[in-house]
Amino acid sequence: RENFIIAIDGFSSCGKSTVAKAVANKLQFVFIDSGAMYRAVTLYFLRHQVDLTDTAEINAALQHIHIDFTPHTDKVCIFLNGEDVSEEIRMMHVSEKVSEVSAIKEVRHALVKHQQDLGKRRDIVMDGRDIGTTVFPDANLKIFMTASPDVRAQRRLTELLAKGELVSIEEIRQNLAHRDYLDSTREESPLRQAEDAIVLDNSNLTQEQQLQIVLQEYEKRK
Ligand code: C5P
Repeated sequence: RENFIIAIDGFSSCGKSTVAKAVANKLQFVFIDSGAMYRAVTLYFLRHQVDLTDTAEINAALQHIHIDFTPHTDKVCIFLNGEDVSEEIRMMHVSEKVSEVSAIKEVRHALVKHQQDLGKRRDIVMDGRDIGTTVFPDANLKIFMTASPDVRAQRRLTELLAKGELVSIEEIRQNLAHRDYLDSTREESPLRQAEDAIVLDNSNLTQEQQLQIVLQEYEKRK
C-alpha cells in the first residue's frame, strides 16, 4: 500500500506530541514534531540576531539552516546544523519568539517543503498546527486536539519545572494565549481545524485513552 500519514494538529500544549509519539511507537511509524522545526529556526534567528523585518536576511539565514531528527521514536532529538538543540528549543526565550518567527512566509515555505519531503514514501505521524490543512491536506487520518486552558497551562508548568526552569503559571498562561492568538490569526496557513479532522478534547482523558481513540480511527482507515 501507499504510505500512511497521520496529521495531529491543535493548540499549544494540548499534548499533541505525547499522543503522536505513542501512536508512532505502537504502529512503528516515524514521528515528526513540526513545532520543533519552527523552534530550531527561531533559536538560530535569536543566536544570529536575524532582523525579522528583513526578508533578504531571513532568506540568507534559511540557506544556512539544516535540521535533522534522530530516526528513532523512543527518544527523538532534533539537530540544528549538527548540534543537538532538543533541550534548548523548549526554553522560554524560544517559546516567546517562535510564533512571531513561524508567521513569516519564507520560514513557512521552507519548513513546509521540508516536512512534505519527510513524508514521502514513509509512514509518519506529524504534529503541528497546519499539518492536516497545508502540509498534508490528503493525510489518511487527521486529528485536531484541544484541552481546557487550565489543563494545558498546568501540564506545561509541570514539564518546565521538571526541567528546572522557574516560571509562574501566569507566565505560561499568557504565553499559551499569545501563541494561540498569533497562530490562529496569521495570514500564512493559520491554525484551524481541517473539515475532515476528528476532534479530540483530552482535558479528561488519560494518555492511554487518547492512544486508543487514535488507534481505533487508524484501524477504520488502514
Ligand atoms: O508545537 P509547539 O508548541 O512546539 O510549536 C511551537 C510554535 O511553532 C507554535 O506556537 C507555532 O507558532 C509554530 N508552529 C507552526 N506550525 C506548525 C508547528 C508549530 O506555526 N506546524
